[in-house]
Amino acid sequence: MSESFDFDVWQGVYEPAADTYLLLDAITINPTDSVLDVGCGAGLASLVAASKAKRVVSIDISFLAVRNTSENLRKNGLEQNVSVLQSDLFIGLSDDVKFTMMMFNPPYLPADDMNTEMDHALIGGPEGSELTERFVKEAATHMGNNGRLYVVVSSLANTDAIIKTFNENNFQVEQVNETPLFFEKIQVLKGVFKGHKETVL
Ligand SMILES: C[S@@+](CC[C@H](N)C(=O)[O-])C[C@H]1O[C@@H](n2cnc3c(N)ncnc32)[C@H](O)[C@@H]1O
Repeated sequence: MSESFDFDVWQGVYEPAADTYLLLDAITINPTDSVLDVGCGAGLASLVAASKAKRVVSIDISFLAVRNTSENLRKNGLEQNVSVLQSDLFIGLSDDVKFTMMMFNPPYLPADDMNTEMDHALIGGPEGSELTERFVKEAATHMGNNGRLYVVVSSLANTDAIIKTFNENNFQVEQVNETPLFFEKIQVLKGVFKGHKETVL
């Protein structure tokens, strides 16, 4: 990432870390892209997307994160082509809103319970993979053929279940970036949507 931004991270919002930068190094954004930044956090990926793409929608389940992203976009004069909204994945979007590119650095640690303020940004479910699986399944509704989806996965989570979900939902999947991180390995998976499967009666 070569851009630099005037950027604040508010208390209670995820601070960009190695996984954020691994994702940003792996993505491509074209001037014609309509981008969805899922789990935007403080909004670093949204700033990058806003400076390159035609249109950006940034969503986060945390209202604090949504406000932090909006403020960072405003400070950098990049709010014109971006909508920021609080949403649990796609719940706040109507089905006819489509994207050519989506990215998500999700909570991916395995744990049964959420106990601290930051857990919503870190815990992906009992196997670490549940939220990402839900994201991949629901993403297909909002993508046209050959739409690209980038997601960070961790070796601490059930990566096989995530890859299976990509395959079952007609995404061609490949690993496009990887780095070791303390006791885990994090990767970026890229899925290219191959269209809705036809039901033959
Ligand atoms: C690991 S942080 C990543 C933040 C930012 N994208 C980054 O890379 O620095 C994960 C983000 O996902 C958000 N999140 C968690 N569950 C979500 C959900 N169900 N829908 C939307 N966002 C969610 C969290 O609030 C958090 O901001």
